[in-house]
Amino acid sequence: MHKQGDIVKKAIHVDKAKRIEALPPYLFAEIDRKKKEMAGKGVDVIDLGIGDPDLPTPPRIVEAMKGAIGNASTHRYPSYRGMPEFRESVARWYRRRFDVDLDPDREVLILIGSKEGIAHIPLAFVDPGDVVLIPSPGYPVYRVASLFAGGVPHVLPLVKENRFLPEFSEIPPDLSQKAKLLFINYPNNPTGAVADWEFFEKVVGFASEHNIIVCHDAAYTEIAYEGYRPSSFLEVEGAKEVGVEFHSLSKTFNMTGWRVAFAVGNGEVIEGLGKIKTNVDSGVFEAIQRAGVEALEHWSDQDRQILEIYQRRRDLMVEALWEAGFELEKPMATFYLWIEVPGGYTSTEFATLLLTEAGIVATPGNGFGQRGEGYVRMSLTTGEERLQEAARRLKKLKFR
Ligand SMILES: Cc1ncc(COP(=O)(O)O)c(C=O)c1O
Repeated sequence: MHKQGDIVKKAIHVDKAKRIEALPPYLFAEIDRKKKEMAGKGVDVIDLGIGDPDLPTPPRIVEAMKGAIGNASTHRYPSYRGMPEFRESVARWYRRRFDVDLDPDREVLILIGSKEGIAHIPLAFVDPGDVVLIPSPGYPVYRVASLFAGGVPHVLPLVKENRFLPEFSEIPPDLSQKAKLLFINYPNNPTGAVADWEFFEKVVGFASEHNIIVCHDAAYTEIAYEGYRPSSFLEVEGAKEVGVEFHSLSKTFNMTGWRVAFAVGNGEVIEGLGKIKTNVDSGVFEAIQRAGVEALEHWSDQDRQILEIYQRRRDLMVEALWEAGFELEKPMATFYLWIEVPGGYTSTEFATLLLTEAGIVATPGNGFGQRGEGYVRMSLTTGEERLQEAARRLKKLKFR
């Protein structure tokens, strides 16, 4: 301890902000601890917990990045909204893929991953006490970001009986009146559910009636099977008048580590989100944006070959789960299996059983909100050989 005269320099008392204290406990911590414990005992742990593509980014995108990084002009601060060239590529891709017209100047904003945009958007539109409608189960960022803005999350339950689509007529009218934002996400993490046009039309009707900004998280539109092509929310008439869509290169091109995504849609909403971002970040590294241009401009069937790989993995795992006595449908999209827990176990109990009895890590469903209780999620972002081993172990698993 150093002394300066008589003053003793004590360590300060670190008081966390209430918004941090209010965060839900880290539900994965216990599983993580057990995973390490099992691995320490020499158990060969198969991790199906994380939804992070194991396949590499297509070489043409990596090459574009290599070229761009050698160009010193990419080394400076990027433009806040994203390079015009990349925003134009996004608009062209939306036209090609969804037949949706976007103005690259007003209706496209480049993001440092869609998580970043989702986390920031409530700061632009939610005042303390405003209601934010969030799905449960759902991607946890919707809730936390709403809380950070002082918003009051109101849960929209996603239940199997309603094909994991929210039922707007069940929202108390005073809450619909107070709601500022609505988060939806199809194809859906964690349930793997998909939405049809009819549902998106309902969303537009509900939002326009109650003056609610729709944030559609479309991170998984390109991960779909058997020729199914999920729609953009913006394809539906009137959608651009009520909201925006978040899209990401992360899953489509195996680029989770690159941190590049975009928000598109309503110009005023895009402007509001952009205003928050200019004050907290300085955009995406230009070399990455140039690689993003390559990704979108030359998007082809070759990029879609990953779908055959995921589909084989999906079939292998779902069929193994059927044989082991589980009931679930083959998801039409996403690389997640949303599995009802058998035998009256809680999500956490069953995830623990899977780990201790079969050496398999699955994510307990309650990590995605209360309505995820009674489920576990398995991710298909692990190679076929490991999944085959997981399948063998599942078939031998004994549960009540
Ligand atoms: C539903 C959903 N939205 C958004 C994201 C964030 O993706 P990224 O920030 O890599 O674009 C994820 C990532 O897992 C996700 O599952």
